[in-house]
Amino acid sequence: MAKVLIGFMGSGKSTIAKKLDPHYVDMDTVITDRIGMPIAQFFKEQGEPAFRAIESQVLAELLQQEIVLSTGGGVVLSEQNRQLLAQNQPNIYLKADFETLYQRIAADTANDRPVFEQNSKADLEKIFDSRQELYEEVATQTIDVANLSPEEIVEVLV
Ligand code: S3P
Repeated sequence: MAKVLIGFMGSGKSTIAKKLDPHYVDMDTVITDRIGMPIAQFFKEQGEPAFRAIESQVLAELLQQEIVLSTGGGVVLSEQNRQLLAQNQPNIYLKADFETLYQRIAADTANDRPVFEQNSKADLEKIFDSRQELYEEVATQTIDVANLSPEEIVEVLV
């Protein structure tokens, strides 16, 4: 099984995955390679449903492997994805409050995040709220990461 990191944008999934295993796999990177363009461009040209379909395909493939896996924040939206994740463990939910995450995402210009770009802060908070129960549903472990350094988070996990 894979060691899967889940959580909203800005929760530190890739940072923590890299600390757990430098050879971790990042789902968004796999998807970007597969679609041959940045995710934001794919959202514009093909739409979000097309992105979600590829995301589901990639998740199913990667869950077959013994890897540390950093997922995209929307991976829990699909019922099919949640069912697959429910058969896996551990699924580690990196949880934080919306304001902390918003500040982090806003400050992070290196990443390509259409869901952030295309929504007002109020709408993004609604998206955040609606996803909470989905993360909780598949999480086998939840860590409140808002006030922890990456080193402290990794200490809890290993
Ligand atoms: C998304 C989060 C992104 C990426 C895509 C959609 C989302 O991943 O998969 O832009 O719906 O929350 P990160 O959580 O790594 O930013």
